[in-house]
Amino acid sequence: MKGQGIDYGFVTLRPIEVVDAVTLIDIYDGKAGARFAFFEDELTLDRETAYISRMVESPSDLLWVVMVDGRIIGTVGLHEVDFHIGTARLGIMIWNSRFHGQGYGKKILYSLFRHAFEELGLEKIYTTTLVTNERAQKLYEKFGFKTEGVLQGEYKTKAGRKDMIRQGLVIADWEPNKILLEFRK
Ligand SMILES: CC(C)(COP(=O)(O)OP(=O)(O)OC[C@H]1O[C@@H](n2cnc3c(N)ncnc32)[C@H](O)[C@@H]1OP(=O)(O)O)[C@@H](O)C(=O)NCCC(=O)NCCS
Repeated sequence: MKGQGIDYGFVTLRPIEVVDAVTLIDIYDGKAGARFAFFEDELTLDRETAYISRMVESPSDLLWVVMVDGRIIGTVGLHEVDFHIGTARLGIMIWNSRFHGQGYGKKILYSLFRHAFEELGLEKIYTTTLVTNERAQKLYEKFGFKTEGVLQGEYKTKAGRKDMIRQGLVIADWEPNKILLEFRK
């Protein structure tokens, strides 16, 4: 499924292209995802190219690259998109740990959620994270996500099957102005 570009003045989200796999592999520093055992298999150009190709073709996935000052720093996506029910699953990754903890996660999600709720007409976004990934869970809580439960053995990692936390944000709890105030702090 093809998405459209998103820019609310903080970061630019551009629909991903298969060639972006080269840049993503290049900027990935091992710590960005490995810390959370994000990848079950080794990350290779072939694997990433195949993944992006599937996403670009998929009728239920929207994937963007995140651009800051003209450079790609990560990816963000809406998956399992169901326009009839109005739901989608969020995925986000900043591919180099140098860019973590600098507020980009907040800016990316502010941009994506405005697009999802205001342009795409979605009414609920949900996400699952490894129980150990407190950084992501805290970030989602800032946006009004509520914990909906623990999914036992949901994810296969190199270290075995791990539990995941599911969190969800319904449109009634979406307060973009509150997030904007946070940016001014
Ligand atoms: C999760 C991720 C997207 C967060 O983005 P980020 O740019 O690092 O986060 P931000 O700097 O915007 O921080 C947003 C909030 O997260 C929380 N946070 C940030 N760093 C944290 C840390 N080291 N520990 C705990 N919470 C942290 C804070 O609540 C912070 O808000 P604050 O700055 O107002 O206190 C990014 O770290 C990442 O890509 N991680 C690897 C992939 C991943 O885990 N993806 C999510 C699972 S699908």
